[in-house]
Amino acid sequence: MITAGRLAISLLLASSAIAGPVQAPLIILPPSARTHRDAVVQIFNESFSAYQQFAFGHDDLSPLSQSFSDGRNGWGASIVDAMSTMHIMGLNDLFAQAVNFASKIDFSKSQTPDTVRQGSRSVFETTIRYLGGLLSAYELSNQQFPILLEKAKEVGDKLAFAWVGNNDIPFGFLDFSTNTPQIATSNIAEAGTLSLEFETLSKHTGNQTYANLALKSVTHIANLPAPLPGLAAQGIDPASGNFVGGFVTWGGGSDSYFEYLIKHARLSNTNDNLFADTWHTAVDSSIKTLLRTTTVGNNVFLADFDDSRLIRHTGSHLACFYGGNWLLGGRLLNNATIVKIALELVDGCWNTYAGTATGIGPEAFAYISSDGNFTGPGNTISPDQLAFYEKHGFYITASDYILRPEVLESNFYAFRVTGDPKYLNRAASAVNSFNKFLKTPTGFAGLNDVNDVQTSLIDDTESFWFAEVLKYLYLTFDDPNHISLDKFVFNTEAHPFVAPPAKPVYGTVGGGIRPSTAPFTLRKGPPLPAISPNPKLPKPIMVPPQ
Ligand SMILES: *[C@@H]1O[C@H](CO)[C@@H](O)[C@H](O)[C@H]1NC(C)=O
Ligand SMILES: *[C@@H]1O[C@H](CO)[C@@H](O)[C@H](O)[C@H]1NC(C)=O
Ligand SMILES: *[C@@H]1O[C@H](CO)[C@@H](O)[C@H](O)[C@H]1NC(C)=O
Ligand SMILES: *[C@@H]1O[C@H](CO)[C@@H](O)[C@H](O)[C@H]1NC(C)=O
Repeated sequence: MITAGRLAISLLLASSAIAGPVQAPLIILPPSARTHRDAVVQIFNESFSAYQQFAFGHDDLSPLSQSFSDGRNGWGASIVDAMSTMHIMGLNDLFAQAVNFASKIDFSKSQTPDTVRQGSRSVFETTIRYLGGLLSAYELSNQQFPILLEKAKEVGDKLAFAWVGNNDIPFGFLDFSTNTPQIATSNIAEAGTLSLEFETLSKHTGNQTYANLALKSVTHIANLPAPLPGLAAQGIDPASGNFVGGFVTWGGGSDSYFEYLIKHARLSNTNDNLFADTWHTAVDSSIKTLLRTTTVGNNVFLADFDDSRLIRHTGSHLACFYGGNWLLGGRLLNNATIVKIALELVDGCWNTYAGTATGIGPEAFAYISSDGNFTGPGNTISPDQLAFYEKHGFYITASDYILRPEVLESNFYAFRVTGDPKYLNRAASAVNSFNKFLKTPTGFAGLNDVNDVQTSLIDDTESFWFAEVLKYLYLTFDDPNHISLDKFVFNTEAHPFVAPPAKPVYGTVGGGIRPSTAPFTLRKGPPLPAISPNPKLPKPIMVPPQ
């Protein structure tokens, strides 16, 4: 219960340089929130029942063919990824069954043959889903199940083989049977999204090696001369430690490196300002260089920036985590400018849901900004796209929805940070659309075209449906003190870790913008491997302004 006295103190803190609480005080939930929350549990129940019936022990349910697929080593990704959500929803029987299953996973080898796609052996995916899922479940259940920590240690010891010799940067892929790292080129999302999980493993095992490995990678990236201040290039070569190319984006392949800079600062409360300052520098550069407002609707997005130092006016579902991340960091830095822009970014991404026929947003989109430029695959914008743009202020460049969370994740942050009921209405609208368009007799499926109410469905339920989408929706409608953003830090797969009380200040007092120390050198490398976790994102092409 927040008293008037606490409220007065928070308001006082908010007006000083001291970090305020992330969440708004005194959030009032309307009675309808309970109904919507129950509807989310119902979706979880139906999705997981279908998984149990047709795919139990495998990674993904295939809801249309009533079968399964194993893209994540075949270790039962959906079960491990769903554990923290089950605990949060109070699904105790399912949680107990999942603990039992997890206690028997054999992490000594992949259960899928080597010929299966390389993504099955991703160091990044294994970290955020399995290591993150196990550690979060261990913490949420008050460390009652030591087997969860033992299993986390088993998979963590495997992942440690991704660092070769004295390399700071881990290899992106690992053969789990032979402990051999694979594929030379990596990206900053793969190399820079390990800190929260590895430091939590160190905290509970007392072995600092894990945290040290993850932190030397992110520290290395943060210290490399970047294409724009604070905005690291996407490709990185673990052998040389150099960037490959100069592509800058908040989207897939780079996204969670930026996300974890501020989240690591918060979870660890480190006195090393590098992380919070680099995050602030990335945000500062983004405001100066990447921020765009569309000519129709005044939607606000962060553009990409390519090797030729040209802006690409493209957006993606994956990148839409940025609103939520800027809200978290903006509150921790007590920076009202960042919070204000963050809320505009949240609105821009929500508009990609509000503007479609199904009320669900597309995988990728583009727009025309006030600088007059636009980009799009095929070096053109079709008449249909232009007509759509003129109504909605964005146009669709990849029309599928594969059960991704980011727009609803940012919506959850916006609700917890402001308490504004409009975010509850948006979440409720998404729940309705999911029930209307994604539901099959045996679970929930993705959509091929979010702008066609007759669209065909996609035969896959990825584990992040359980880990992220349904958890963020549930928590949006739940008591705001449950998994408070002032007490937990979510990993990029939405697994919450217990955070210590916040420090009074994050980053260098008075603003820690880090100037570039050296000019950026563009090194054209071998072509990057398919960008994980979004191999489908089309590579946009720059077109001259009309
Ligand atoms: C899930 O649904 C089934 C069938 O409708 C029901 O029997 C069960 O109690 C539900 N479980 C939960 C946890 O809501
Ligand atoms: C700590 O973990 C590393 C990485 O797996 C391992 O090599 C090392 O032996 C562990 N140290 C101790 C004391 O267990
Ligand atoms: C907040 O951050 C913005 C963007 O970096 C910066 O321009 C501004 O000076 C900061 N405000 C304060 C009060 O530090
Ligand atoms: C627009 O595109 C042209 C290249 O076609 C480029 O020269 C110009 O810098 C771009 N403008 C902005 C603001 O990115």
